[in-house]
Amino acid sequence: SLSLRSYHEKVIDHYERPRNVGSLPRSDPDVGTGLVGAPACGDVMKLQIRVDDKSGKIVDVKFKTFGCGSAIASSSYMTERVRGMSLEEASQIRNTEIAKELCLPPVKLHCSMLAEDAIKSAIKDYKTKRAT
Ligand code: FES
Ligand code: FES
Repeated sequence: SLSLRSYHEKVIDHYERPRNVGSLPRSDPDVGTGLVGAPACGDVMKLQIRVDDKSGKIVDVKFKTFGCGSAIASSSYMTERVRGMSLEEASQIRNTEIAKELCLPPVKLHCSMLAEDAIKSAIKDYKTKRAT
């Protein structure tokens, strides 16, 4: 079917050529780190943002995902999506948008949830750092 084909194309593309894989120095004051896990399957996702103090925008973003293809694709998609966004904009991205964009089947919804949790966690970490 068409939806099965596009699931494969988009997920496999992000899976085979994931964007923005890597790490940012966690101790940098302008870096926020999100580290989240999915209890259901044990997969883990780390997503980091670097925020420009003046503009308040996300200027760099990296991820490492130890998980299934859908989780890797979701985090890769998320990194592309949030670059250049304000923290407010980035915090409003829902996993349903990712799932729709990557045509994830219902059983893979929690994989995209990991990406939503990860960006929220990274934003929270950055804000906590800035407040202290
Ligand atoms: Fe198929 Fe995880 S991508 S089981
Ligand atoms: Fe758990 Fe995909 S199967 S994150």
